[in-house]
Amino acid sequence: MFDRKHNCLVVVGAQWGDEGKGKLVDVLAESADCVVRYQGGANAGHTVVVGDRQFVLHQIPSGILHPNATCIVGNGVVLDPDTFFAELDELAAQGIEVSGRLRVSDRAHVVMPYHKLLDAASERTQQIGTTGRGIGPAYEAKIGRRGVRVADLCRADGMREIMVERIDRANQMLAMLGAPTRADLDEHLQLVERVAERLRPIKADTGLLVHQALRAGKRVLLEGAQGALLDVDHGTYPFVTSSNTTAGGAAIGAGIGPTDIDGVLGVVKAYTTRVGNGPLPTEARGEVEANLRELGGEFGATTGRPRRCGWFDATVVRYSVRVNGLTGLAVTKLDVLDSFASIPVGVRYRLDGEECDEVPSDVEALDRVEPVYETLPGWERSTEGARKLADLPPQARAYLDRLQDLAGAPIRYVSVGTRRDQIIEC
Ligand code: GDP
Ligand code: IMO
Ligand code: MG
Repeated sequence: MFDRKHNCLVVVGAQWGDEGKGKLVDVLAESADCVVRYQGGANAGHTVVVGDRQFVLHQIPSGILHPNATCIVGNGVVLDPDTFFAELDELAAQGIEVSGRLRVSDRAHVVMPYHKLLDAASERTQQIGTTGRGIGPAYEAKIGRRGVRVADLCRADGMREIMVERIDRANQMLAMLGAPTRADLDEHLQLVERVAERLRPIKADTGLLVHQALRAGKRVLLEGAQGALLDVDHGTYPFVTSSNTTAGGAAIGAGIGPTDIDGVLGVVKAYTTRVGNGPLPTEARGEVEANLRELGGEFGATTGRPRRCGWFDATVVRYSVRVNGLTGLAVTKLDVLDSFASIPVGVRYRLDGEECDEVPSDVEALDRVEPVYETLPGWERSTEGARKLADLPPQARAYLDRLQDLAGAPIRYVSVGTRRDQIIEC
């Protein structure tokens, strides 16, 4: 199934996250040698369904269910060590053997419990609707040059002084933000000791490992988390996550050069969802939204929050094709639209009375845009059994053709269900 044209393929979310990246990475990993997560952290929830079992991966790459894939947590990830090992233990309990094929970058930054306290405290005033996993504060510390890296954690000494300083600073900040709780030094020191022991045998210079794999002719998948519209530079700022989720972040976060990457696959839902606050121009209301949510099972894989739902927004996906340099699209959840008699697609915006084909940089302008819809006929029959394009009803093929034209990138895969075999290669 892996696109034979590519040796190093980036898989990114091209909307607001939860597009089905986990499913695509799992499917493609069947013929990949190495899968690398390159940004984000435990805010991600990537679902993989194998037979009648469902796995939700937060920090471990979605290639882990293929016994031959080496899985790497790259330097661009912010690692929450306790939940990472809990995830690993859960996989082991389910009979998934990972020893010897999972590596964590020694340059990755560590999410500490005080980062989660700071995340909760800043939500009191900023209300981004974060996942509460400490992601923003951990990346702030990294950029502010006061982070803690896996390599620091694994050193035998020196961590006490670092933690005393970090906790002191975090507690000053928590007091300033009016937070009711404070970070506890002993709790942090115990955590450091507990996780250092388990990190030492799996930490590595992972950029070097990826480089060596590529030079040896191995196939590498770079697995993005979140989606382009949550990118800290290109997303709906400030309603974004704190990393570069777009394909540009893949080289940095995996520790390789951009010239090593030879393809970028953008995963898009056949409609649109978003969790958390911020603009969502094609958001549906009332019964239509409730229908989409129910049919698509649109509840967050990490927080369980109901996802906001709406129609396909071609302006967003066209933008995503540009900022990610997408070479192909994977359209997921086509089956969720099976019962609709007609399906609106947002083709462009109207902003202050003028037609607008681009995503405005100003979040207030994006909040004001009105989508211009085109209504396409539905197919009103099941697509779940389709395994090639010709199996799809003509209206479903016409729908996909229209999305492809509007987005400006070729559709390479269509997913018609959660299972591995429910995929069409185009
Ligand atoms: P990710 O964060 O991009 O990996 O996506 P999530 O796992 O958070 O959310 C995608 C959800 O849709 C998961 O529950 C998947 O099992 C499910 N899913 C993926 N592809 C399809 C599909 O083609 N059809 C249906 N019905 N569900 C899908
Ligand atoms: P995957 O990889 C959907 C959203 C949060 C919030 C904003 C900032 O499963 O697609 P953060 O905790 O990152 O500081 O929250 O980003 N968000 C996601 N939304 N899917 C995700 O990941 C997300 N990760 C973060 O809801 O709006
Ligand atoms: Mg998700």
